[in-house]
Parts: sequence; C-alpha cells; structure tokens
Amino acid sequence: MVVALLNAGHETTGSTLPVGLYHLLNFPDQLERLRADRGIMVPAWEELLRFDAATRGSVPRFAVNDIEIGDQLVRKGETLIVGNQAANHDPAVFDKPLELDLTRSPNKHISFFGGAHYCLGGWLARLELQVALDSLLTRYPTIELAGEVEWRKSFMLRALNGLPLKSRPEAARGPP
Ligand code: HEM
Repeated sequence: MVVALLNAGHETTGSTLPVGLYHLLNFPDQLERLRADRGIMVPAWEELLRFDAATRGSVPRFAVNDIEIGDQLVRKGETLIVGNQAANHDPAVFDKPLELDLTRSPNKHISFFGGAHYCLGGWLARLELQVALDSLLTRYPTIELAGEVEWRKSFMLRALNGLPLKSRPEAARGPP
C-alpha cells in the first residue's frame, strides 16, 4: 500500500507540477492569461494534463480473448499497455493539439484513463495541482526559467530531474 501510494499518488502529482509549470513558462501568453485570471485555473490544469501527462501508460491489461486493434492481433493472455499521449494529441479529437490553450473546451483527455480503473486519486491530484500553482504564482509573480531542463529517463513517468527557476527577490511575496 505504501509503495502504491508513493508511486501512484506522490511521484505522479510531484512530477506533474514542475512539468506543467515548465510548459506554461514556454507559452508566456498562456501564463499571462492565467496570471490575469486565476478563475481559469481548473480548465488550465485539464489542458496541462492533456498536453503532457505524468504517466505515459495504463497499468498492464491482459487480453481475455483474441482481439484485433487496428491491424494488430492481440492474442488471449498477452499483455497490453495503453499509451495516452497519442490519444491526448489526436487531431481528430483536439483542435491544434500541439498548442497549449488553457481554456480548451471540450477537453476529454485520458491522462487519468477511464472506466473501472480510472485513477483513484484523480480529483485529489487536480486539487493539489490547482492549489500549488495558485500559491506559486502568488508568491513568485516574476518567476522565469533559469536554464535548460533535463528530462528523467523513464518509460512510464514523464518527469524532470530539476526545474531551474529564478524570480526577482523584491517581487517574491511571503505567506499572507
Ligand atoms: C497528476 C497526478 C496523477 C496522474 C497523472 C495519475 C494517473 C493515473 C493513471 C494513468 C492510472 C492508470 C489507470 C488505468 O490504467 O486505467 C492511475 C491509476 C491509479 N492512481 Fe493515479 N494519477 C495521479 C495521481 C494519483 C493520486 C494523487 C493517487 C492517490 C492518492 C493516485 C492513485 C491511483 C491508484 C490507486 C490507481 C490504480 C487504480 C485502479 O487500478 O483501480 N493517483 N493513475
């Protein structure tokens, strides 16, 4: 249970915040929209989750029968891992999928997958991400990238080894 909570609950959300912030810093017009109107924080995170989800695949599935997906035959008993990045960037579903649009609507991404095994902590993660980013932008109003980032080498997790940031010290605000 501890391993499950650390991997599923902590690594994922802990990786999503810096990755989301990194993309926001690369789309300054979108960051400005969010700074100007924190009311869009909820759809903003849906879009950041669509744009680059922390997890790259589902938990493994096992075919209970032979099934054909596209032109690929999956035999009974074989393992399947469903990748979500391609689906989240499918141009048949998302208009201009490679653009970050914080008020994209509809935004039916599958970053928490779906069905019976829909991420147990999806709503908790959303709340944590909203509160964390809101606090960060309030406390560091002049935050910017301070160097190159290095992506973690991982098949399942989309994460940064670090996110170098700088903020003008006189602009930083302490807790209220
Ligand atoms: C941004 C953060 C998160 C992302 C992107 C994420 C993503 C996912 C994904 C893709 C799955 C696999 C679903 C499937 O294979 O159908 C999953 C399952 C799961 N997640 Fe999350 N998750 C996040 C946060 C959390 C948190 C905060 C918790 C717990 C506090 C959590 C607990 C779980 C559990 C227990 C499962 C297994 C559910 C099952 O198999 O029935 N996750 N998550």
